[in-house]
Amino acid sequence: MKRLTSICALSATIWAVLSCGQAERKAETPVYLDESRPLEERVEDALSRMTLEEKVKILHAQSKFSSAGVPRLGIPDLWTTDGPHGIRPEVLWDEWSQAGWTNDSCVAFPALTCLAATWSEEMSALYGKSIGEEARYREKDVLLGPGVNIYRTPLNGRNFEYMGEDPYLASRMVVPYIQEVQKNGVAVCVKHFALNNQESLRHQYDAIIDDRTLNEIYLPAFKAAVQEGGAWSIMGAYNLYKGQHLCHNQYILNDILKKDWGFDGAVISDWGGCHDTDQAITNGLDLEFGTWTDGLTMGATNGYDAYYLADPYLERLRDGRASEDVLNEKARRVLRLNFRTAMRKDKPNGSLCSPEHYDAARRIADEGIVLLKNNDNVLPISRKAGSRILVVGENAVKMMTVGGGSSSLKVQREVLPLDGIRAAAGEGVTVEFERGYVGDISGSYNGVVTGQDLSESRSAEELIEDACLKAKDADAVIFIGGLNKASHQDCEDSDRFGLGLPYGQDAVIEALAKVNPRLAVVIVSGNAVAMPWVDNVNAIVEAWYCGSQSGVALADIIFGDVNPSGKLPITFPVRLEDNGAHALGAYDPTSTEAHYSEGIFVGYRWAQKKDIKPLFAFGHGLSYTTFSYSEAEISRTTMSENGNVTVSVNVTNTGEREGKEIVQLYIGDDECSVERPVMELKAFRKVSIKPGETVKVSFPVNADMLKFYGTDGWTLEKGSFTAYVGAASDDIRTSVKFNVN
Ligand code: GLC
Repeated sequence: MKRLTSICALSATIWAVLSCGQAERKAETPVYLDESRPLEERVEDALSRMTLEEKVKILHAQSKFSSAGVPRLGIPDLWTTDGPHGIRPEVLWDEWSQAGWTNDSCVAFPALTCLAATWSEEMSALYGKSIGEEARYREKDVLLGPGVNIYRTPLNGRNFEYMGEDPYLASRMVVPYIQEVQKNGVAVCVKHFALNNQESLRHQYDAIIDDRTLNEIYLPAFKAAVQEGGAWSIMGAYNLYKGQHLCHNQYILNDILKKDWGFDGAVISDWGGCHDTDQAITNGLDLEFGTWTDGLTMGATNGYDAYYLADPYLERLRDGRASEDVLNEKARRVLRLNFRTAMRKDKPNGSLCSPEHYDAARRIADEGIVLLKNNDNVLPISRKAGSRILVVGENAVKMMTVGGGSSSLKVQREVLPLDGIRAAAGEGVTVEFERGYVGDISGSYNGVVTGQDLSESRSAEELIEDACLKAKDADAVIFIGGLNKASHQDCEDSDRFGLGLPYGQDAVIEALAKVNPRLAVVIVSGNAVAMPWVDNVNAIVEAWYCGSQSGVALADIIFGDVNPSGKLPITFPVRLEDNGAHALGAYDPTSTEAHYSEGIFVGYRWAQKKDIKPLFAFGHGLSYTTFSYSEAEISRTTMSENGNVTVSVNVTNTGEREGKEIVQLYIGDDECSVERPVMELKAFRKVSIKPGETVKVSFPVNADMLKFYGTDGWTLEKGSFTAYVGAASDDIRTSVKFNVN
């Protein structure tokens, strides 16, 4: 017993010593390092310990993609990485070129236009989770994406990086991506804020736009990213608005983003987007990257101390021209970003090139590929033993993950369309290939090389002849063409010169259509293209850029292993002049003023205003089954200002196989003091329906969905509205009216 007592006493003593030691340690642990304390307290504590020089040092880059922490306090550097579709290979300290590591190959996920085409918030979440895990594994704290600039012109070289023409669709599709990335302790950096809707003269053009268009069309997706997605950083755009560069812009960054929207994160400049110290200080920039210094010769390497927010800023602070309050506000935002990412201890480990990520890339592509046309059931192609399939076109064999600008990647693998089709065709089916045309045979970007040899000696005529020769008696012909990541195609820092397919592809398609009606045309692109041959081709697929699993997903659709369910997030106009900006001559790649003269009438809003039939409409996409819609029902035909109504419809799968339908709700304001679009997308639901099954889809409608942006801000005018429900903006199946009183 005695022994027991002494053991208890001893353990009590030990406990007392340990706990007071712990208390001491607790007391010694500075607040900013104590993750149990509220973020704001930790930030304030860190700030209070920092010198003026340390506060300035964290506001600008120290290398091509990193900025300094506070080594003395144990606050780590911040590492950023491109891009929206996958994690860029490591670059040399002060270079764009890759460092040649052997362990930084990644999975390329589908381009964001493909993600938007899934119309699936579930796919957006899967995307964010997967790419966030890859960023975390590569120890990156800030992912420079996603991009949500609205698709104003089909010529914009970077549309493939964005989420289409409709602000509501882009808003819904960006939020889950952000939330899931950030769960990995990786910040998104939503870009390019704002009005970066063309690449021509991107560093110089001033966007001339009215407030209504700015707020109804170009801001909503960014607002959703901040207020619903909780984005921890946002990237200022290169262009100007009201004469100020968007990386330091009083109106967009201070007044709207930080004051109106309550953004508490950091504004990061685009690389080289900062042009002036005083503007950067006062107009909302927090973290400067990519500047070429003008204190030294342009492009001076390692000129980081000469950055606008570096020594020039320190000088102004020391001589009293700049206030320390403004400095502290910037430093708070950068510290908050750091504490949410680099400083965070309990981060997941992430993963790179995992089977789950390849599966995610495939599923997103499967749900994003759009079946535009399918007469005579040309698709899906059967795997009948002994059959012969001919694949024609450079895009069947050309890698698309290298090039296109900062979203370019070094992938662990990219399954090309031809390889995917061959692998999926299985035994007994012969798959042959003909080049059909020669496009861009290059294959390198920032030191990443595809290693492909796409050289071709035959003439255009010979290539068409050889393709037609084989096409004549093929059981099926699949032409795979479209655009690519070369300059003036789908590529950063350049716009396309026209809507048409390049490299003489139209002639190849016309020739093939003549010799074999069982032709399917697959367009690999990030933009709409003209299709002068559309009436002569029975099947057309928009396959986007699907990254590492491109060939696998395309084969899934082509052979019908997956029933296509994607819908267009963009309008395919018949001709360029059918697009608002072009109809008004408002897109001028040679002008340093971009007049948004078409106003809110972007995409389908323009087509419906002018009653122009598009080649393929926003929201269009077919399935291998069919769906019927009942008449819409509405919970009540009058709605008070703060009430709501519910619009319901029954959707039935009237075909032979299960399929997913994206049911779309558009709303039109039947009487209003200002001109409004005929209808605007206000809700959608992607539902999987078995053959013969009926699913009821209900959409709550509230006042916010009915407002327009007027001189007094968001405004609801009483009167009659129409709810349209359909399978596409030009395929309304049912509608119902209601009144707001
Ligand atoms: C580029 C792009 C931006 C990218 C950054 C870093 O110029 O505009 O999207 O994240 O620089 O590469």
